[in-house]
Amino acid sequence: MHSLGILLSGRGSNFVAIADSIDAGRIPDARISVVISNKAESPGMATARARGLNALVIPSKGKAREEHDREVVAALKQNGVELVCLAGYMRLLSPWFVQQFPHRILNIHPSLLPAFPGLEAQEQAFAYGVKVSGCTVHFVDEELDHGAIIVQKAVPVLDSDDEHTLAARILEQEHIAYTEAITTVLSGKFQVNGRRFRNI
Ligand code: GRF
Repeated sequence: MHSLGILLSGRGSNFVAIADSIDAGRIPDARISVVISNKAESPGMATARARGLNALVIPSKGKAREEHDREVVAALKQNGVELVCLAGYMRLLSPWFVQQFPHRILNIHPSLLPAFPGLEAQEQAFAYGVKVSGCTVHFVDEELDHGAIIVQKAVPVLDSDDEHTLAARILEQEHIAYTEAITTVLSGKFQVNGRRFRNI
């Protein structure tokens, strides 16, 4: 049984999509061992508790990055976590954290990277006027929104869109993409050469 650890800071819809995929057998042989948030009041944590999951708040406020990361990594290791899934976790991981889980930390980002890294990617894409945007699931490395790409889904930008309708359609694809990426990574049937991830 694979143990997943989810890190989130907010709404938690990607976390819910992952939990639903596990319950429905779309992510086989996996369980969520721990859900960790740096924000006590995040809606995602309320959902985690309501679903009976092990939900831990580890506040980040007032702590140096690595000090906080050491607490988070200790909790992940205590819970036997094999794969860490960032799901709206609004913190940069320290290089030390990344090194603790080589090719074992995933992130989802609401644009087709390398376009529009950072905050409010959907708004950035909309304002730029691109005709296609989407989402990316990638390994986390030491740079923001940067590691090897595992899955991308394209989403057309419609003439009738505003940044909210675009973000909503991207979010639907995020939920599909994250399940696909987790399933592939847990299967172990992949190779990474430099930046190139490929299914084998
Ligand atoms: C998503 O758009 C995700 O791509 C980004 O943060 C947002 C989190 O949403 N990293 P949710 O908390 O999963 O609903």
